[in-house]
Amino acid sequence: MRAIEKKMPATEKMPVTAGSVRAVFSRIYGNADGVRIARAPGRVNLIGEHTDYNDGYVLPVAIDRQVIVAAQPRPDRVVKLYSVEYDIQVEFNLDQIQYDVEHRWTNYFRGVLKMLEDRGIRLKGMNALVTGDVPQGAGLSSSAAFEVASCYAAQLVSDFPMDPVEMALLCQQAENDFVGVSCGIMDQFASRMARQGHALFLDCRTRAYEQVPLPSRGMRIVICDSGVRRGLVDSEYNNRRRECEAGVAYFRSVLPDIIALRDVPVEEFEEYGGELPPVVRKRCAHVIYENTRVQRSVEVLKAGDIAAFGRLMYESHESLRDLYEVSCPELDALVDIARGLRGVLGARMTGAGFGGCTVNLVEEDAVDGFCAAMPEAYARAAGEERAGRLKIYVTSAEDGAMELLV
Ligand code: GLA
Repeated sequence: MRAIEKKMPATEKMPVTAGSVRAVFSRIYGNADGVRIARAPGRVNLIGEHTDYNDGYVLPVAIDRQVIVAAQPRPDRVVKLYSVEYDIQVEFNLDQIQYDVEHRWTNYFRGVLKMLEDRGIRLKGMNALVTGDVPQGAGLSSSAAFEVASCYAAQLVSDFPMDPVEMALLCQQAENDFVGVSCGIMDQFASRMARQGHALFLDCRTRAYEQVPLPSRGMRIVICDSGVRRGLVDSEYNNRRRECEAGVAYFRSVLPDIIALRDVPVEEFEEYGGELPPVVRKRCAHVIYENTRVQRSVEVLKAGDIAAFGRLMYESHESLRDLYEVSCPELDALVDIARGLRGVLGARMTGAGFGGCTVNLVEEDAVDGFCAAMPEAYARAAGEERAGRLKIYVTSAEDGAMELLV
C-alpha cells in the first residue's frame, strides 16, 4: 500500500463517494457495470499491545481513514487490479495466484484471493481498483485494511457466505502465510468488526468481543506519527514472540495447564517468575500486566472514568518502554510532551513499536492547542529533521468494513 502515499501526502484525508470511485473505475475499465465497492478502515490500538499473539486482550478502534477496493465480475478467471495512487495495473489468473516480487503491494490482494480459493470458494474473475488514505508504514494497519477491503469486495462480487469473524481470520492468514508477516489477529479484526463510537474489546483466544462505548462528546483520539521508520520492526517483533514462547515453556514446566502467557495469573507470575532469565521475565511481565490493564480499561470506560483509562494508557507506555523494550526515544518524547499539555488524558505508543505512532486521548477543546504545541516541542526534543516528518491525525472511533453505497 506504499502506493497510496505516492500522490497523496498522508496528512490529507481523501473524501470518497461511490460516485467518485465509479467515475475512476469507468475511466480505467470502460464501464462500471456491476461494480461493488468495499471500504475497510485502518486502526489504532488504545491499549493491549503485544498481547494478541499471546492469546490476550486488545482494545483497538477503527479510524476515519480507509482502503477502498472496487470490483466488477468478469466471465473468465482473469483478475485485473489497478492502483489509483501507483497508476499501475497488474493481471493474473485465479488458477495460478503467485507472490509478486515486482509489485509487492498487490500481494495483500493476491493473498486474500488465494486463501479464498484454497478454501474451495470458486471466485469469479474481476476487474478491480484500489485506492485509500491510510498512511503506510505508520502502524495504522493499511495492510490489514487492504486485505479486509479485498476480501469484502470479493465476497460482494462472487457472493459466497462468510461471517465477519471468519473474514478477519482469513485476512490474517493471508498476511501470515502469503505476504509472510507473522502478525496477530488484532488489525484485521478491528478493520472488519469495529463500530463507530466504540472501542473493540477482543479476546484474541476465543475471539469473543464486545463493543465498549467511548464518551460520545468532549474527547478526541489524536494520533502522532513520529516519522520514525525502523527496518528492524519485523525481526524484533519475531524476537519478542520467541521470548514470549520461552516464557510459556518455562511456566508450563511449573504449571502444566499453561498454553499461552494469557493463562499466567499475576500471582503465579510473581511466585514463579523469579526463575526466568531477566529479559524473558521482563517480556512476560509486560504481557501479563498489560492483559490486566486492558480488562481494567474496559471496567473504567464502562464506569465513565476516562481519567482512569488515561492513566492506564501511560502505564502501558512505560511497560512497553521499560519491559517490552519496543519504544524509541522519539515515541518516548511524544508521550512525555503530551503528558505536559493541557487536556491530555492519556498517551502511549501504539502498534508494534520501533517508530510509528503514539495515540493520545485529548479533551476536545484542547485539541487545537495540542496540535499547535506538539511540533515545536517535538523539534526541541528530537530535532528539526524529525519534527519535519511529524504528522498529527485527529480522529475518532469509526465503523469497520462495509459496502460503499453512496
Ligand atoms: C502489529 C501486529 C498486531 C499486534 C501489534 C502489537 O500491529 O500486526 O497483530 O501484534 O503489532 O500489539
